[in-house]
Amino acid sequence: MTAQNSRTAAGRRMVEELRLAHRPLRSDIAQLGVAIGMLEEAALAAEPVREIVAGLTVGQFAWQIKSRCEYFCDHLSLHHGIEDQRMLPVMQRQFPQLRSVITRLKDEHEQVSVLILEISVAARDLRGDDADSVGRLRGNLERLATLLAGHLDYEEASLFPYFEQMTRDWHQG
Ligand SMILES: [Fe+2]
Ligand SMILES: [Fe+2]
Repeated sequence: MTAQNSRTAAGRRMVEELRLAHRPLRSDIAQLGVAIGMLEEAALAAEPVREIVAGLTVGQFAWQIKSRCEYFCDHLSLHHGIEDQRMLPVMQRQFPQLRSVITRLKDEHEQVSVLILEISVAARDLRGDDADSVGRLRGNLERLATLLAGHLDYEEASLFPYFEQMTRDWHQG
């Protein structure tokens, strides 16, 4: 039997579900990175009302970035909260050999939550005409993008082989 054939239906569903949950996290953090880079360019050019995207002023664009940051961070916190409270305890119970993997995943969730707090503060203080405030948010978003990319890759690589052995969805306990 090949590895492909040995996958369970529940395993295939869980792999697909986690991939689908991670896809917007990966694309949204990349889009935020592009957006904050554009805002920084505008802020450094010291043109407070320069139109940069779809007719938006710098001030309006900064406001959009603030709200998208807030939405992204809330969504990411919710995703990690569900993993900490529901998915990882089930995986730990069923596969005690995953102890160190789960410890690392939880530690990374904690590191992300610390960074999210810093991003909230930086987003709150963001002003399109203040290059320092834009640079602070950009730096924090870059750190989050690096941390998150490694985390999502590690989570998928370490959990998918175990999902594929399961006959029952972790949602069912
Ligand atoms: Fe995670
Ligand atoms: Fe995840």
